[in-house]
Amino acid sequence: MSKVKVLFVCLGNICRSPLAEGVFRTKVRERGLDDHFEIDSCGTSNYHIGEQPDKRTIKNALKNGVKLNHRGRQFTVQDYYDFDYIITMDSSNRRDVERLRPNGNVKEVRLMRSFNQTGLDDNVPDPYYGGENGFQEVFDIIDESAEGLLKFIEEENRF
Ligand code: 4NP
Repeated sequence: MSKVKVLFVCLGNICRSPLAEGVFRTKVRERGLDDHFEIDSCGTSNYHIGEQPDKRTIKNALKNGVKLNHRGRQFTVQDYYDFDYIITMDSSNRRDVERLRPNGNVKEVRLMRSFNQTGLDDNVPDPYYGGENGFQEVFDIIDESAEGLLKFIEEENRF
């Protein structure tokens, strides 16, 4: 069985994208679809390679029943070949990813929020420089978008 490979991308890979990875993984597990997926996250920058997610992200995720287990890594050209879905948290991340697109590669790079129920195609705000409230706001946005993304992938793939 070939797996569906999903990659979440943000700037630092310590706040939004590891959270998106964890939330999506949790939903996949709850639906018994573990065997169908490979899920990862990365950053466009090299700022936090090898690091665990931000402590505030870990804490907020746990409060919402999501355990994170990830070490920071940077997006590479190879990711264009290794993943079926590349999902960025904001339009700046998407531009950075687009810059590395190999010649002739047509993989679609989509914004996380394009999958939410309200159809609001916007950025997931970066909570890094803000207060604790920002982390819950980001969790809620990511949770809703991840739900929409899973539905979208299920419809495209018929597990
Ligand atoms: P993230 O947030 O892109 O959601 O992981 C950030 C984390 C760190 C930095 C920027 C954004 N930074 O500049 O170190």
